[in-house]
Amino acid sequence: MLYANTLTKMLGIEYPIIQAGMAGGVTTAALVSEVSNAGGLGMIGAGYMKPEQLRELIQETKKRTDKPFAVNLFINEEEPILTNEEVNEARRILKPIQQELDTAEELVLGHLPKMEEQIEVLLKEKVEIMSFTFGIPNEQTIHRLKHQDVLLIGTATTVDEAILNDKAGMDAVVVQGFEAGGHRGTFEQSFDEGMIGTMALVPQVVDHVHIPVIAAGGIMDGRGIVASMALGARGVQMGSAFLTCQESGGNPLHKKATLERKETETIITRSFSGKPARGFQNRFTEMMKDHETNVPEYPVQNYLTNSIRQRAKEAGNAEFMSLWSGQGTRLSENLTVANFMKKLLTEVNETASNLFR
Ligand SMILES: Cc1cc2nc3c(=O)[nH]c(=O)nc-3n(C[C@H](O)[C@H](O)[C@H](O)COP(=O)(O)O)c2cc1C
Repeated sequence: MLYANTLTKMLGIEYPIIQAGMAGGVTTAALVSEVSNAGGLGMIGAGYMKPEQLRELIQETKKRTDKPFAVNLFINEEEPILTNEEVNEARRILKPIQQELDTAEELVLGHLPKMEEQIEVLLKEKVEIMSFTFGIPNEQTIHRLKHQDVLLIGTATTVDEAILNDKAGMDAVVVQGFEAGGHRGTFEQSFDEGMIGTMALVPQVVDHVHIPVIAAGGIMDGRGIVASMALGARGVQMGSAFLTCQESGGNPLHKKATLERKETETIITRSFSGKPARGFQNRFTEMMKDHETNVPEYPVQNYLTNSIRQRAKEAGNAEFMSLWSGQGTRLSENLTVANFMKKLLTEVNETASNLFR
């Protein structure tokens, strides 16, 4: 099978398979480098990383691969400013959860790392592919990065968002269907408007943009890859399927949930971070059900729940962890990246040759 297309040529990779940048410790140097070594594109999820941490991870990844890999960054809006009363009310809502977890740690606020500082690290480290979610970098940043020959991948959840990425000068766009695990990149339209499935969204975007489209959301095996390419995508981005790989830094209980739980068990919740994200229901989401609309906006709620999530990890208690996952759960496997990539390519071949039998 010949895999070379506009996207693989542009990114300098063999197969049009991209491992999603997943913030929060999933994208270890081992995961990212093994995907790239196997001919796909590994991606560091740097959204929450301080510049120094990011530099170390890039250097560690470079020691393990001389193939291209990418780094995914968050475009953050102005952080919302809350009154003390509002923050205390949000803390009060989380109190029963702290009681169940047997922790009284103060729920503190913080700040997200500055994307501009992360970009300085990426330029110094000569990272040649950068991916963005939650928005599009401003004109000046795009101009500067392009001037340094950096390839830019945007994220969209509607046709209009994809057109904005195209017009802004992104080189390719990830199109996330509503099946996707974790936070989706909706930025221009309301989250409800962006609730479009991969099957419906990908071909509509393909018809309206001039840049290569990368399909994401619910793609777990060779069948999903072939289907995406048939819809006009030039590549796929897979998150949940790489989360359960052996080299991933996903918490063992997170991997176990993805491997064992069903497609009916993921929900979209704002209660962990203040931004809608898809993950498994658990005691936390159950207890927060009535507060879905009144928890503070991202990233305030993300900070307030941080110590709860940490405590849950330390206690080995998956009921209070954020277990981000897409809807393709029953298709997940716990393989090494090398074996998983081999399996994907075999399935692509089989699926493509049996299509009209
Ligand atoms: C655990 C997890 C963390 C994620 N973190 C990010 C992230 O930091 N940046 C990003 O652009 N997408 C992130 N995503 C979404 C992925 O980019 C991708 O769209 C999604 O995983 C595709 O759906 P799938 O999980 O069904 O493969 C995350 C997904 C998961 C499952």
